Amino acid sequence: MAKCHVTTTINGDPVEFLCEPQQTLLDVLRDELQLTGSKEGCGSGDCGACSVTLDGRLVCSCLVLGVEAEGRSVDTIEGMATGDHLHPLQQKFLDHAALQCGVCTPGFLVAAKALLEKHPDPTETQVRYWLAGNLCRCTGYDKIVRAVMDAAAEMRGA
Ligand code: FES
Ligand code: FES
Repeated sequence: MAKCHVTTTINGDPVEFLCEPQQTLLDVLRDELQLTGSKEGCGSGDCGACSVTLDGRLVCSCLVLGVEAEGRSVDTIEGMATGDHLHPLQQKFLDHAALQCGVCTPGFLVAAKALLEKHPDPTETQVRYWLAGNLCRCTGYDKIVRAVMDAAAEMRGA
């Protein structure tokens, strides 16, 4: 089957790629563009490890086709830091030891960033609800929630 040509924007940069019509955005990111930060935990929309934003909306990239990125803007974990300067969420995950194996971490970070862009001052309950679609087998979630709350406070200048 002929491959599809897709023109898109990824982490602010114009990008073109070829993909199979049935190839997921997650597979395109990882296998065609070598952006391997987004992880495949389940491939069925259940774990959130593949989270990216598409035109600013949080999505599971395993449930989006690569061709759906045509003309749109994709943001992945690779675009979160600014050069060597970590995003406050990334720094707080380190400070709070909010990761163990790390497979879930890119998805949590992308999802938490999307939360703080909508709700800069979330309650703990809002953080827990927002991140309910992100599964972690290792941490027990408390450290993750604390890291997000702490990053939110720092980003508000509190
Ligand atoms: S890999 Fe996409 S939700 Fe689990
Ligand atoms: S740190 Fe291992 S799954 Fe979350």
